[in-house]
Amino acid sequence: MKKQTQCVHSGGFRDSLMRGVNTPVFMSSAYEYLDRDDCPYPRYFNTPNLDAVVKKMCVLEGAEDGVLFSSGMAAMSTAILAFAGAGSHVVMMDELYGGTHAFATDQFHRLGIDYTFAATDAESICSSITEDTRVIVIESPTNPLLGIIDIRKVARFAKERAITTVMDNTFATPVTQNPLELGIDIVVHSGTKYLGGHSDLCCGIAVTSAERASQIRALARNLGGSLDAFASYLLERSLKTLALRVERQSENAGIIAEALQNHGSVASVYYPGLTNFPGHALAKTQMKAYGGMLSFEVAHSNENPSAFLKRLQIVKPALSLGGVETTICCPAVTSHVKISAQERQRIGITDSLMRLSVGIEHPDDIIADLDQALPSN
Ligand SMILES: Cc1ncc(COP(=O)(O)O)c(C=O)c1O
Repeated sequence: MKKQTQCVHSGGFRDSLMRGVNTPVFMSSAYEYLDRDDCPYPRYFNTPNLDAVVKKMCVLEGAEDGVLFSSGMAAMSTAILAFAGAGSHVVMMDELYGGTHAFATDQFHRLGIDYTFAATDAESICSSITEDTRVIVIESPTNPLLGIIDIRKVARFAKERAITTVMDNTFATPVTQNPLELGIDIVVHSGTKYLGGHSDLCCGIAVTSAERASQIRALARNLGGSLDAFASYLLERSLKTLALRVERQSENAGIIAEALQNHGSVASVYYPGLTNFPGHALAKTQMKAYGGMLSFEVAHSNENPSAFLKRLQIVKPALSLGGVETTICCPAVTSHVKISAQERQRIGITDSLMRLSVGIEHPDDIIADLDQALPSN
């Protein structure tokens, strides 16, 4: 089946009682335990609506099993900690999502885990391992600079050394990129973004092999953080339109990126679909489309970046991303605010960098809105 069909028909839970076409919502938090081995319980990550989503995501990502969490960070932190403990070393990337970056800097030392931040290229990631490295965490395209990593190269290198690779595929979605097919061990999504897609859910998922999923699930049962039945049902419903939404968002993002590139008040545009973008050729070998996320640098102007944001009429300055509506944020004061100004400068996240999450509106309306709001130089 193609992705569009998988989104609609895979996973789910057949309603054999009423023969409705949707998965029923199973609200019970208590299930009868006699004469069954794996009795459902919400925090055991084994209730029916959770399973329905996991099955669909496994088909979409080409995984054997997965664990559905109540946030993307719950998925990411549990996936890392399931394979890295005291005495081990983890390779992260400078350009990981700010929350994942902060998880390492805030928590790893007290957990006895050592770590190294590598630059956004496979060579730098591979050369950062030590003999204690157990996990490599990557993201591509990166947030917010849309940097592209050679996924196959990192995966191959890690596999030869029995190092577990964890990849955040939130920006790309399973519609445009399938890291497990490229050799990655565990794929993590913040489902709060494209999977939910309507800016009304908070969830996350890790999908992988059956063996790794059971290791993640074992730790998850200790830590908690499962998703409730109704949110799982809403997520399953959202996933039915994932391909439709992401295809339109990618198409729109390409059109908007071109327009911004030709705009006099924009200094630079970061979008993997632009042929002059440094990561374009590599992206072409590992992505089916280039996604709905782009960033741009407002050309030097004397005004505060928030003045531009306040002039926007349709595009909403908002913290999250991946919804059907176009949203924008200034990463230096939002997603990456916990990273020091010095570190942000080193990575290339300037105060005038804007991250745009392109929605499903007509791109002409978004271009016109950005145009009227950009400072005239
Ligand atoms: C790329 C990426 N990964 C992970 C996360 C964390 O997800 P959540 O906020 O659902 O915990 C985010 C949130 O913004 C994100 O953008």
